[in-house]
Amino acid sequence: DSPLLVDRFGRVATDLRVSLTDRCNLRCTYCMPAEGLDWLPKRELLSDAELVRLIGIAVTRLGVTNIRFTGGEPLLRPGLEDVIAATSALDPRPKISMTTNGLSLARRAADLVRAGLDRVNVSLDTLDPARFRALTRRDRLDDVFAGLAAARDAGMAPVKVNAVLMRGVNEDEAVPLLRYCLEHGYQLRFIEQMPLDPQHGWNRDDMVTAEEILAALRTAFDLAPEPGERGGAPAERWLVDGGPAVVGVIASVTRPFCAACDRTRLTADGQVRNCLFSQSETDLRALLRAGATDEEIARRWRANSWAKAAGHGINEAGFHQPDRPMSAIGG
Ligand code: GTP
Ligand code: 5AD
Ligand code: SF4
Repeated sequence: DSPLLVDRFGRVATDLRVSLTDRCNLRCTYCMPAEGLDWLPKRELLSDAELVRLIGIAVTRLGVTNIRFTGGEPLLRPGLEDVIAATSALDPRPKISMTTNGLSLARRAADLVRAGLDRVNVSLDTLDPARFRALTRRDRLDDVFAGLAAARDAGMAPVKVNAVLMRGVNEDEAVPLLRYCLEHGYQLRFIEQMPLDPQHGWNRDDMVTAEEILAALRTAFDLAPEPGERGGAPAERWLVDGGPAVVGVIASVTRPFCAACDRTRLTADGQVRNCLFSQSETDLRALLRAGATDEEIARRWRANSWAKAAGHGINEAGFHQPDRPMSAIGG
């Protein structure tokens, strides 16, 4: 009986992704309709104390070593700095990162670092203000640029940039995005779009593949596979023009990395998911609110892990997109 989060395939989850809210202040077309979604009501969200207790159980009883805060948009969570500070006070202290749209980072980066945030991944799909406005339905590109610079200047390292390329939208920006990131010292990763949009509009032919992205980059840069172990990292990385700079490609669809998955997830309403694409969840919020002990909660979390499927199944017949959209799971 392992105390860790193991599964039937021998994988061990050491990386916990915590969604702090399902809300967002952008409306990226591939993620949300213009009017937003039906947000979770406040009573269904975990309180700060509940969140910190669950993170503590993961770290002290289940062997989790990395905590990533996500959303929706995690910067919209009131008290974010307090949750980070409490996480950073755990023993052993986990590594703490956050995936964000970067909008208010310019103002908050220094405080976040002081609270214990080690690094951030910031979403940026285009360098063109008009395209940004069309894609996110908000006119905030300069805030993202400022947020990125502030994260770097506050000492978060590496600062990573996530870009989803879409056919007919921004697929011509692979090279300019990489130039921009090289120039500013950010580590860029391109992400294949996955079937996780609430509109169920995902279409394989509209997805810009890793192969296409690499071919576009090779028109301007020399790419060589980065030596060394990839571990459970979603990104395959290439040295750019001999290094040390690298560029990543997260090819979830055409080159799945599920066999090395090291993740477990907690939604903002306290449900544990063993996979982005899992069809079932374990309700830790109900357990918490019914007075369960830490060990009971840990046991249920282990059982959730054990039941994890081999992979996401996107490329198999009968694939079924999960009911929750990405913004409610925590990308
Ligand atoms: P680091 O490499 O540790 O910086 O983090 P990350 O790349 O895992 O985190 P991030 O939140 O930036 O995720 C980037 C993208 O990776 C997401 O948009 C997803 O497309 C993809 N991703 C993250 N986690 C998973 C996962 O468990 N499964 C799959 N298939 N894709 C994932
Ligand atoms: N497929 C892949 N990545 C996605 N993201 C949002 N929706 C999808 C999707 N359907 C990305 C965002 C962000 C990261 C957390 O997830 O662009 O960078
Ligand atoms: Fe892990 Fe599921 Fe993501 Fe595959 S799709 S890497 S199994 S969380």
